[in-house]
Amino acid sequence: MSIVVSGIRPTGNLHLGNYFGAMRNFVKMQNTDQCFFFIADYHSLTTHPTPQDLHGNVKSILVDYLAAGLDPEKSTLYLQSDVPEVLELYLFLNMNAYLGELERCTSFKDKARKQPDNVNAGLLTYPTLMAADIILHRAHKVPVGKDQEQHLEMTRTFANRFNRMYNVNYFPEPVAYNFGEELVKIPGLDGSTKMGKSEGEGNAIFLGDSPESIRKKIMRAVTDSGPVEPNQPKPQPIENIFTLMKVLSAPETYEHFNNLYNNCQIRYGDMKKQLAEDVICFNEPFRQRILELEKNDEYISKVVKMGAEKARESAAKTIREVREIVGFKRFF
Ligand code: TRP
Repeated sequence: MSIVVSGIRPTGNLHLGNYFGAMRNFVKMQNTDQCFFFIADYHSLTTHPTPQDLHGNVKSILVDYLAAGLDPEKSTLYLQSDVPEVLELYLFLNMNAYLGELERCTSFKDKARKQPDNVNAGLLTYPTLMAADIILHRAHKVPVGKDQEQHLEMTRTFANRFNRMYNVNYFPEPVAYNFGEELVKIPGLDGSTKMGKSEGEGNAIFLGDSPESIRKKIMRAVTDSGPVEPNQPKPQPIENIFTLMKVLSAPETYEHFNNLYNNCQIRYGDMKKQLAEDVICFNEPFRQRILELEKNDEYISKVVKMGAEKARESAAKTIREVREIVGFKRFF
């Protein structure tokens, strides 16, 4: 059984791309691995220092996670800021992270370019905090996308450097885990190849979207005037709605519209109507759970408290051992 850690920044709700990407696999992993899933609320301050939004965003992500099937009994589901031990490990790691390597990090350079008036030290040390999140539980596997590869490489560097510096074999080398074949890539509604919240309103369908909003988004999805010759390859935006249909509708439905396309008889309006109803049907149980959980503050606080307790137990053990390795000894 491996120890798995993954964090999500509280900046946007779960959409179908997230669900068919990592989320569905997180849900499965809970049965085979010891999983720690947390909301990276400290990290969010590097780019979104907005007190009025923080709590609501965290709650909304938590509700989505639970609705999507994360089980607080099976996994440890917690808020980063409920586990202050991570900050002590962050400090230790910062003591042996070099300015040069932090400055070379691609995500730092990108964010520094995007927010030139706020190139804060938290942005620079984002990778050491992320490394602390991971090695705090002495994780083996980190399910993250390609964009986090470099952060993970840095995590390995910091973990190995710690081991070498203190001549111990304490932290395992965590590896990125990308689910391989299990990962279904969901395209966007705007004709781009990826569903994502940053691509603009209307590109993504969220698990909590209402039927009306799903209909509206799908009816507005980018299409063209249709094929003029039979059996032609599909342009990207058309390929996208077919991909969505393949994932979300019945196989016969997909076949039906695919045949119409190949015979040049396709009417995208009809296809989208059908797709919208199938997406609504898929989303319905998630949406119901989201609506229920949103009202149930008592349950949410119970979940968060339990997660904090479990996470702190694991974290406290690491910090106790790390302090000893680093040479701290209690006088009292
Ligand atoms: N950097 C990750 C992201 O942007 C979020 C994150 C923070 C994370 N700490 C982590 C992911 C630890 C995995 C493990 O998506």
